[in-house]
Amino acid sequence: MTVSKGLSGGFPGIVIGWFLLFVSGVNAAAPADDKAPSLLKTPSEACQSCHKLIHEQWQKSAHGQPSTASLLYRALLRPDAGCDKCHAPLAKDQEHFANDGAVPCVVCHTLETFRHEAKGVGVELYSVNERVVQGPNGAWFGAKGAVPPGSGDEELASNPFFHHANPELFRTPVACQGCHDPQKKGDPKAYSVACQNCHMPVAGGFADHGTPAGKSLRMVKRGPILSLQAGREGKDLNIQVKLTNLLPHPFPNGGPFVVGVMRLTLLDARGEVLWENIEKKNMDQDPKALFALTVADDLGHPAPPRAVTTQPPKESRLKPGETRTLGYRLQQPSAALVRAEVIVLPLAPWWLDKLPEGNRELPKGLLAARSEVKLAGQ
Ligand code: HEC
Ligand code: HEC
Ligand code: HEC
Ligand code: HEC
Ligand code: HEC
Repeated sequence: MTVSKGLSGGFPGIVIGWFLLFVSGVNAAAPADDKAPSLLKTPSEACQSCHKLIHEQWQKSAHGQPSTASLLYRALLRPDAGCDKCHAPLAKDQEHFANDGAVPCVVCHTLETFRHEAKGVGVELYSVNERVVQGPNGAWFGAKGAVPPGSGDEELASNPFFHHANPELFRTPVACQGCHDPQKKGDPKAYSVACQNCHMPVAGGFADHGTPAGKSLRMVKRGPILSLQAGREGKDLNIQVKLTNLLPHPFPNGGPFVVGVMRLTLLDARGEVLWENIEKKNMDQDPKALFALTVADDLGHPAPPRAVTTQPPKESRLKPGETRTLGYRLQQPSAALVRAEVIVLPLAPWWLDKLPEGNRELPKGLLAARSEVKLAGQ
């Protein structure tokens, strides 16, 4: 039996108790049956014993952190708004999931089909199989009895779970849509590429569960394609900043919390700044250089996404496949260098006053792209 490198060598002590519980009374050769432990009562620790590296990646990802660790989430949480359907589907079961992240292993790996006719959001949009682990390939159909006890592979022989191939869901964006894009209604062809190809790339031999995205500089640098043209036309400086978004979702994603800005700077021959389109984070100064989804509540205050608001959202992010050109005509005779930068801010400044006092610091922006053009002397 070959076992992938993603599997750990042994059981960490704390988990042993778990397995003794499962293994006792389990009939080794039986098919999935009602006596099998319900996956919806199985915390991620129970998967960790065999999938150690995946568990490590997941724990550091947004899915592996409890949503309540986010101050902003706690500030915006409304008990009747259904936030937990995506942010904490199993959190009510404190007995089993007290130490788990926002999206424990079994939240995803029990999703069986998308319920196209269902109302709701997040996990409400799926039918769930709480007896059989759902996965991408059925790389291993093993479960109880697949490896006989005494075969020398006691770890696998003790596996209390059946694993089942469900590529229609796990290899397609349908696995993500219920929470990330419920409007797409479980259409596997809604995007040109599956989310997993970029956010769960194969690394070290298996699908990366760290789901790198907007907080990873390397991922952000894979965002927009920037090109800059600048030249003099008489007294005028003519500048064209061209941005193309080849991602299958808006750039930047993660709205209404994440925003993007294009910062344009003119410098003189000594490198002194002559002019900026956005000074000192005054975001209103150049509205066309701001890429944001803004959702407001009925009083006009920023509101969480998918919340109960009657205001239509405002959208200025780059659409999938869109090329947008921002043109500037300026009079700056001593300019020697034009610089364009695209910056992703993990939190738009207008959310700050929702945070408790003493915690109102903006996280640092990430530089997604930069381009410079030297101007010919006059
Ligand atoms: C349909 C699923 C869904 C629902 C319902 C939902 N969210 Fe989210 N939320 C997400 C996803 C997915 C993200 C990750 C970024 C993204 O794609 O927008 C997120 C991100 C966030 C963030 C930014 C990340 C963080 O934790 O700081 C906050 C805050 C947040 N949501 C608050 C809420 C609140 C409060 C509610 C209820 C009023 C809510 N959300 C309802 C899916 C949902
Ligand atoms: C006793 C060991 C063991 C435990 C416990 C275990 N698994 Fe597995 N699992 C395996 C083995 C072995 C494979 C096959 C790996 C391979 O071929 O690379 C596997 C494969 C998988 C796959 C991929 C299946 C596919 O379709 O390719 C998924 C998903 C998975 N496990 C999820 C889980 C989850 C979730 C849990 C916790 C509820 C869990 N496993 C608990 C041993 C285990
Ligand atoms: C049960 C709901 C749920 C499902 C299913 C789900 N997610 Fe998420 N995801 C969330 C929530 C909630 C967050 C925000 C957590 C936070 O930041 O507090 C999130 C955050 C993320 C992030 C943001 C990471 C960052 O840097 O902020 C990425 C990327 C992501 N998910 C990818 C995926 C992919 C890919 C899939 C499908 C394979 C998927 N998710 C399926 C609920 C879900
Ligand atoms: C946000 C949803 C989500 C969560 C949470 C999640 N997985 Fe997965 N997992 C997936 C998807 C989707 C795939 C298939 C990726 C692909 O092949 O495109 C996958 C694949 C796997 C595989 C097969 C990997 C391979 O490349 O052979 C294993 C094993 C696995 N998951 C175990 C786990 C374990 C253990 C946890 C918890 C620590 C976990 N997963 C949490 C969505 C999730
Ligand atoms: C072609 C690669 C690619 C595909 C496919 C893709 N993404 Fe992304 N995604 C990115 C890149 C690059 C970023 C970082 C730039 C940005 O924020 O837009 C990103 C950002 C994100 C973020 C931002 C998280 C945050 O809060 O900062 C989320 C959430 C996300 N993607 C979810 C998804 C989901 C869900 C799918 C499938 C429907 C998907 N992505 C498909 C490349 C991709």
